[in-house]
Amino acid sequence: MVPEVASRKHIEVIASLVDEALREAGLTGPEIDAVAVTHTPGLIGALLVGVSFAKAYAYGLGKPLIGVNHLEAHVYANFLTDKPPVFPAICLVVSGGHTSLLYMGDHRRFEVLGQTRDDAAGEAFDKVARFLDLGYPGGPAVQQAAESGTAGVYRLPRVFLDRNDFEFSFSGLKTATINLWNKLKKSGEVAGVNDLAAEFQEALVDVLVEKTINAAQQRKVKQILLAGGVAANTRLRERITIEAGKEGMAVSIPPPALCTDNAAMAACAGYYQYLEEDFAGLDLNAYPHSGLLVKKSCG
Ligand code: KG4
Ligand code: ZN
Repeated sequence: MVPEVASRKHIEVIASLVDEALREAGLTGPEIDAVAVTHTPGLIGALLVGVSFAKAYAYGLGKPLIGVNHLEAHVYANFLTDKPPVFPAICLVVSGGHTSLLYMGDHRRFEVLGQTRDDAAGEAFDKVARFLDLGYPGGPAVQQAAESGTAGVYRLPRVFLDRNDFEFSFSGLKTATINLWNKLKKSGEVAGVNDLAAEFQEALVDVLVEKTINAAQQRKVKQILLAGGVAANTRLRERITIEAGKEGMAVSIPPPALCTDNAAMAACAGYYQYLEEDFAGLDLNAYPHSGLLVKKSCG
């Protein structure tokens, strides 16, 4: 993706997109209660387009403006269902840019338990897919290849699984996968690509699932939430459901279409901010890095 091209495309479509969304919802501008916009983290150009548009739109309508954190929005995709999850909860946020384990004590009250030290889970999927010539976006491509392969034919490391903390590292797994692929190619074993994809996916899922269950056990939590693009992964969804079930824990995972980036999740996070009257001024800015996931700790 070319960031500059992406933000120019945003400018071209944002007004008609908002019109279309309102039309589909059967609403007019004056009928909406507030304007929520993602302002961090992300590509600065794209964020700026959204923030600038939202400011003008909110000002024009005389409605409150709400600045939403993108990762908080991913978590809130879980609250778009008829049966929302309960608190306290452990949230695993796995996207193209982030991998974080969070303790969520109540609405909008997060404590960061651990994060990735290097690559995010989705980033590892994307890079491995590129090296294995599986296509883009990498996650669905690796998943599809893995469905025709067998984990365990090749053996890849479960990085940080031996550590008693909630930190992650996926860069070593990515490199080990690429190195093994180069070796296979040299010896003409290209037919092994599906088995390698399956083992890569399994190694990554093993770590995500075990650390999430450990966090829930340690914090005596019975509710797990998955969020972010990688939460669309069928193997991850299957494994977390099985393992949490064994421990008597409930799992909430948004439908796949609401795991990857979407506007409904930002609106949902915005709604809970609206209830707390956590509004932004017209000086709201866009930030490429949010520092921590969310500013608040659990009180
Ligand atoms: O949350 P998202 O849409 O954007 C970010 O905030 O980054 O996540 C995108 C990431 C990409 O890395 C993509 O490869 C990954 O989510 N992803 C998947 C699957 N679908 C999307 N990873 C594994 N399996 C999938 N089915
Ligand atoms: Zn995202």
